[in-house]
Parts: sequence; C-alpha cells; structure tokens
Amino acid sequence: MKQRTLTILKPDTVARRNCGAVIARLEEEGFQILAAHMLRLSEDQAMAFYAVHKDKPFYRPLVEFMTSGPVWVMALERDSAVEHLRKVMGATDPAKAAPGTLRQQFASNIERNAIHGSDSPENARIELSFFFSAAELA
Ligand code: RTP
Ligand code: MG
Repeated sequence: MKQRTLTILKPDTVARRNCGAVIARLEEEGFQILAAHMLRLSEDQAMAFYAVHKDKPFYRPLVEFMTSGPVWVMALERDSAVEHLRKVMGATDPAKAAPGTLRQQFASNIERNAIHGSDSPENARIELSFFFSAAELA
C-alpha cells in the first residue's frame, strides 16, 4: 500500500554535490517526490526534530552538523516507503552500511551520514507535518 515518508538530504550531501545522485537513486527506487524544500535548519528546528536524542552524547554535535548548511527536505511516496527508504539508506554508521546503500556510497562517517529517513510510519506522519503543510501534501 502507498505510504509516505520524510527524507532529509543532510548538509554533507548538499556541500559535496551529491544531491543529484541521491535523488536519482530515490526515483529509481520508485519513490515519488510529493513536495520538497531547500532550507537551512534553525538551531531550534534541529533541536526539536532530533529531540528524541536530547540525552545522547551525540545530540549537540548532531544539532551543530544539521544546522551547518542547507538541506533538502522531501516528502516521498511509495509502497512501504518507510521501510524501503531505511533499506536504501543503509545503517547509520557507513562502515556498517550494506554495499549499494546510499550511506555506504555517500556518507563520510556515523555523524555526516548523508541522509535522514523516518524510522516508523508514526514518526513519518509527525516529521512530514514538521516541514510541510496539509496543502503541500494534498
Ligand atoms: P536519522 O535519524 O538521521 O535518519 O539516522 P538514524 O535513524 O539512522 O540514526 P539515529 O540513531 O536516529 O541518529 C540520528 C543521527 O545522529 C547522528 N549520530 N551520531 N556519533 C554517534 O554515535 C552518532 N549516532 C548517531 C547521525 O547523524 C544519525 O543519523
Ligand atoms: Mg533516526
């Protein structure tokens, strides 16, 4: 069944000019881009978006990285979009990411790891509404 998820092409992907390659791969994988914005996250936005990690040692550097330059946020649609995007992204740590995954191909390290994907259908709904209005997703 068609499902929606949120992806963020992180600041490293924009800076290293990998957006085209990442988007081409997402489209090859059958994801339809429903909506997209290029923006630079404010500190408050990055802190709120990753609030689930607020007690982790990597929270502060993560917020600094995510606000270090522009990102692309995108609403994607496909069958089993949440699960499929996580599969195509690969493991958080590119050293552990399977061959052919986006993080294996484009991530620099566990923090500068190229791409975000919602980790559950419930979080996908929350994260889509964080960046997009109902009208933009209609
Ligand atoms: P994301 O939320 O960005 O899609 O990544 P994920 O689910 O694969 O990983 P998660 O555990 O949610 O971590 C969020 C982001 O925090 C950074 N991180 N750094 N230094 C570290 O040990 C560490 N662990 C996580 C990464 O940028 C990760 O994507
Ligand atoms: Mg996550």
